[in-house]
Amino acid sequence: MGRISLIFTLFLLFSIHSSSALSELVVLKVDRRVDLTSHIVRVTSTLKVENSATRVASEVLIALPNHQVQNLAYLKASFQDGKGKAKGSVDLPIKMVQPEGMAADVTIYAVSLAKGINKGEIVNLEVFSVYTHSLKPFPEEITQADNQLVLYQDSAYYLSPYDVKVQSLSIRVPSPRVESYTKVERVKFTDLEIKYGPYENIRAFSFTPIVVHFENNQPFAVVKELVREIAISHWGNVQVTEHYNLAHGGAQTKGGFSRIEYQGRPTSRGASSFRHLLAKLPPRAHSIYYRDHIGNISTSHLWGDLRKTELQIEPRYPMFGGWRTAFTIGYGLPLHDFLFESDGKRFLNISFGSPLDEVAIDNLVIKVILPEGSKDMSVSIPFPTEQRQEIKHLHLDTIGRPVVVLEKKNVVPEHNVYFQVYYKFNSLSMLREPVMLIIGFFLFFLTCIIYMHVDISISKSSAAYIAKQQWEEVQAAVHQVENFINHCIAVDEKLDLSLRDLSRTGDVQASKAARKTSDALWKEYAKEIKLVLSFLQSSPQAAQIWPKVDELVRKEKEKQERLMLKHSTVVEAYEKKLSGREIGSRAASHEQRIAVLKQEVEELLETVDEVF
Ligand SMILES: *[C@@H]1O[C@H](CO)[C@@H](O)[C@H](O)[C@H]1NC(C)=O
Ligand SMILES: *[C@@H]1O[C@H](CO)[C@@H](O)[C@H](O)[C@H]1NC(C)=O
Repeated sequence: MGRISLIFTLFLLFSIHSSSALSELVVLKVDRRVDLTSHIVRVTSTLKVENSATRVASEVLIALPNHQVQNLAYLKASFQDGKGKAKGSVDLPIKMVQPEGMAADVTIYAVSLAKGINKGEIVNLEVFSVYTHSLKPFPEEITQADNQLVLYQDSAYYLSPYDVKVQSLSIRVPSPRVESYTKVERVKFTDLEIKYGPYENIRAFSFTPIVVHFENNQPFAVVKELVREIAISHWGNVQVTEHYNLAHGGAQTKGGFSRIEYQGRPTSRGASSFRHLLAKLPPRAHSIYYRDHIGNISTSHLWGDLRKTELQIEPRYPMFGGWRTAFTIGYGLPLHDFLFESDGKRFLNISFGSPLDEVAIDNLVIKVILPEGSKDMSVSIPFPTEQRQEIKHLHLDTIGRPVVVLEKKNVVPEHNVYFQVYYKFNSLSMLREPVMLIIGFFLFFLTCIIYMHVDISISKSSAAYIAKQQWEEVQAAVHQVENFINHCIAVDEKLDLSLRDLSRTGDVQASKAARKTSDALWKEYAKEIKLVLSFLQSSPQAAQIWPKVDELVRKEKEKQERLMLKHSTVVEAYEKKLSGREIGSRAASHEQRIAVLKQEVEELLETVDEVF
């Protein structure tokens, strides 16, 4: 208890003497529900307000203590109409106001009512607010094995600019493990809920501080910064790339981290840590990847159906309090799901926030990269953001692409609404890139022709010249082999990916089609490689490098054969409708060998490359 009284002295005690209560309205009833089951705090207040004056009231004032306003991420007020099934809700405009004679430690918001409240009329309102960083870890430092305890501060009475007839407060906690809560009159703790009230006839601006000290081991996933790049290509794709800088925003970890302890019993030896995050991507998302500064992270899991695609990401290490990690998620989306036309303009319609579940984002930057030649950009979004424009140059760009940049601090899942970027675009601009490519190739051939003509004039008789020329031919041939091998590797990966798609979609036909394509490409490359190899084998200058090149080609061939075997095994297993586990175990034996071969091929490629 000593600790808690210490907190009380730190706690901002309210002394709101100003009783210039705005008396024409009376709150007949307030029920406040505080949800502390996540690291993001959500408060819903339902109010029954009566106009007791003779004038029509056009707005209702809401008061929030400043220490809460600091962390306020989202505020919404709505008018509740009707009862039961006919119940409707209309969002109302809110603005910050500064009525005279108000205490300095409260912030007042005015909710405008379109029709106003007539004399004697009663209206029902709902006020919903969301706060981040308002659960304070206490103690501030814990060890790996500790549970995380946090403090929440509020008032037992609803901070109201009007007198309140009846009110109650209920606070929902994530587990029954509550260390303490402030005991004032009429408080009851049952299971997962602490109930304060009902209290009757409380004067305007009454405030009774309360503190709840409870266990909360939910993932305190805080994104320090998220940069979302959304690039539109009129050739059919919207490419989304999201750069995350993620931290565990809970109690700092003290003492070392023991992976052995963690792995032995992750739930008790790392209760406050989190291991996974779930990204809910749009349906039909494709080419999904997740990587950090080391490379692609393959321990992520992907599944989905017609309505959604879910990616479970798993950082390389579990996240403990104060730890950070940076990573990137990328995915492609079909253009026609997100780009529309209206009134001669095109517009992108896509959701604003992060697809990651229940994260608080300290700073979010969205960059919508429009096609080259887009004009007259405008943005439609239901809450304030900072906006600016930039130009981005990609290869083949002449004038660069216009980029619409949106920036917002303190973003919560409630901000995940659709926003629109409108722009004008002339379809002829779409031809710019192909035309550039054609001109590019034309210039390249022209240069080659000129070069060859010049080359002919050089003396070609000296022995040194001939030796040099032969060596260059060997070099070119080896590069060609490398090139074809790289093509083969790409085909290998595609085929392997088709198996992953198969596990996601169960589409056996698509997987068979992918196999057919791979077979055809491999055959074609094998033919080309054979030609080059016969040249190398006959060239004395290539004697030294020949064994390595030969081995490289053989290993790649073996890898392809293994991949075919694996593919047939898995597809067959799917056709027989075997269990996921059975399929996995059948594929496993091939996978091991393929991984070894892959490594060997890569090493040989490097060795061959080093010779030049
Ligand atoms: C990571 O995966 C993506 C998509 O599968 C791929 O395009 C990229 O080349 C991979 N990067 C590395 C370093 O393997
Ligand atoms: C944007 O897309 C959402 C979801 O498909 C839809 O509900 C909304 O009406 C769209 N907005 C506009 C302006 O088209």
